[in-house]
Amino acid sequence: MKKFDDVLQSVEASCRERHIPMLGPEKAEFLKQVVQKVQPNVVIECGTAIGYSGLWIAQELQTIGTGKLITIEIDPARASEAQSNFTQAGVDHLVDSRIGDARNVLNDIDVAVDLLLLDNDFQNYFPCFQAIEPQLTNGATIVADNVGIGADSMKDYLDYTRARYKTELHWFEIDLPWVNRDAIEITIYQKPASV
Ligand SMILES: C[S@@+](CC[C@H](N)C(=O)[O-])C[C@H]1O[C@@H](n2cnc3c(N)ncnc32)[C@H](O)[C@@H]1O
Repeated sequence: MKKFDDVLQSVEASCRERHIPMLGPEKAEFLKQVVQKVQPNVVIECGTAIGYSGLWIAQELQTIGTGKLITIEIDPARASEAQSNFTQAGVDHLVDSRIGDARNVLNDIDVAVDLLLLDNDFQNYFPCFQAIEPQLTNGATIVADNVGIGADSMKDYLDYTRARYKTELHWFEIDLPWVNRDAIEITIYQKPASV
């Protein structure tokens, strides 16, 4: 795992230096535990950046021995850098990187999704959730990042999910150059009863 750990460290350092948003180690450790618990066949991530959280997810999928990550990034330069990081870390076979606006790209996904990570622009959490909802399995887990700092901008998403599903808010003291306290909200999705 030396190669993987070196790449992860270098991606984290690069995000800090260049102020590229990333989960950071505190929230990433929590995300890893979520992946371990869910044991997903398919994880979708909206907002790849340069692959920091994707590396954590892929590492855990490798440990579990099953599942793949589909990650979506609107900025082609960031998506290309992420792809190179996945390759260098030796996890590219577990990752399907897609470039584009997640609100559109999600419409092309026709596989069942067990775990969804919302980590793109806050106002698009709800459109992204709506776009992928038909593919979410009953009991799928949704991880929404930045619910501390971005709650106002994602109010439509939070109001909708909190009114319908079981949700849990988790606060983190974090050590990032741009923020030191933030939250992740976990939602357990339930398919509406068929009529
Ligand atoms: C917070 S960063 C993602 C951090 C990444 N998940 C990590 O922890 O390493 C948000 C990313 O979402 C991308 N983004 C913003 N709007 C998007 C959209 N509508 N579709 C896809 N990606 C988007 C941005 O370019 C940015 O790279």
